[in-house]
Amino acid sequence: MITLLTEHFNEPKLHELETYRRLGGYEGLKKALVMGREPLMAEMDKSNLRGLGGAGFGAAMKWRTVTPEAKDPGPRYVVVNCDESEPGCFKDRVLVTRSPHQLIEGLLIAAYAIDARRAFIFIRGEYEVQHGILRQALDDARAAGFIGKSLFDSGFSCDIDLMRGAGAYISGLDTALLETMEGKKAWPRQPPPFPTASGLMGRPTLVHNVETLSMVPHIVLQGGVWFARLGTAKSGGTVLFSVSGHVERPGVYEFPMGAPLKDIIAAAGGVKAGKKLKAVIPGGVSTPVLTAEELDTPMDFEGPRAKGSFLGAGGVIVLDESADMVMVAHNIERFLAHESCGQCTPCRQGSFWHERILERGLNGGGTAEDIATLERAGENITGKVICALGDTVGVVTRALMKKFPQDFKDRFPQRHG
Ligand SMILES: Cc1cc2nc3c(=O)[nH]c(=O)nc-3n(C[C@H](O)[C@H](O)[C@H](O)COP(=O)(O)O)c2cc1C
Ligand code: SF4
Repeated sequence: MITLLTEHFNEPKLHELETYRRLGGYEGLKKALVMGREPLMAEMDKSNLRGLGGAGFGAAMKWRTVTPEAKDPGPRYVVVNCDESEPGCFKDRVLVTRSPHQLIEGLLIAAYAIDARRAFIFIRGEYEVQHGILRQALDDARAAGFIGKSLFDSGFSCDIDLMRGAGAYISGLDTALLETMEGKKAWPRQPPPFPTASGLMGRPTLVHNVETLSMVPHIVLQGGVWFARLGTAKSGGTVLFSVSGHVERPGVYEFPMGAPLKDIIAAAGGVKAGKKLKAVIPGGVSTPVLTAEELDTPMDFEGPRAKGSFLGAGGVIVLDESADMVMVAHNIERFLAHESCGQCTPCRQGSFWHERILERGLNGGGTAEDIATLERAGENITGKVICALGDTVGVVTRALMKKFPQDFKDRFPQRHG
């Protein structure tokens, strides 16, 4: 089975420039600079690369929507989103630890495509080790002439800065991330305008996830059509899954887009200690649950959607027969309540009340009416808030209630008298 991002992960010093170069590193950048912008964009168009930070927006389409220099002269930026705070997702951490130059190369190609002379990598504050690895990689790449003035004598110059987050999940949302970078509170902006028109400091900005940009050198070197064919009709290439929970070998696994969920779980050694599988959260905690009967789901951007869920950022959380779904719902809603930025009342209050009601159920005080309240409250949040964090509140709980009604009936019984 073909792998791209993890292909050389058995090389112990892959994070060092010398090793990365020996394996063909930065040849994609060189090729892109020789190709020129439009042929590069054409390869991206053909690749069907989707944004791998969760939303799955077409990467080429996003690049093309960055307001061109001719229409809005002045600086434009590329920002790497390495905030990775979705519980269940850890693939960006692994990518940065093992192959930081792959990311830097992809970032520089994207910067060239949109003519950005300045780029930023925003890394989650807790990723201290990875911050050090990236800083070293950036220093080495700069010293070797891959970052800075006239890369490969092309006349294109670009510098990259590294910034650290301060520990808020919401700052991973692109517009909140831009606010943080500007030194403000991480409050999501209400689009439009989108960052591609007005992003960092009001300038056109391309925000991408680590994994998305790490794919780019492979597209340039092998071609967009080749890349697209690795995946499914609408989701090109491969994708990383962070597999955690009740499996024998938690870790990061690379698969072609569209691989069945059961193959991903099997790669992680299957359900731990031979227990029975109960459920799988397919894309990180903000994605609705799938049941053990839905293991044939093709894991691309379309497959989980057909089952009422999302690929998200590929955080596959496996739950065995011992899992209490009320506890799972409580855990997730408590997280969302803690991380809500508080700007929108339905999100701030809705997440708080979800947490409280679910807690009551766990503590033995739940009633059947609570289930109806949870249904109603959830329906009144989605679509009435600024960002997708708020949209998630209640959605996850409602999916758990729908697919595992008995767990909720046990915790929220009919009480008489
Ligand atoms: C609450 C929330 C948190 C997010 N956190 C991240 C994150 O840590 N990393 C990330 O790449 N995208 C995150 N996103 C998605 C970003 O808003 C954005 O879609 C993404 O960075 C775009 O990159 P892509 O096109 O490469 O996917 C988050 C979204 C939401 C709603
Ligand atoms: S939906 Fe929630 S997290 Fe998003 S802006 Fe509103 S209050 Fe903040």
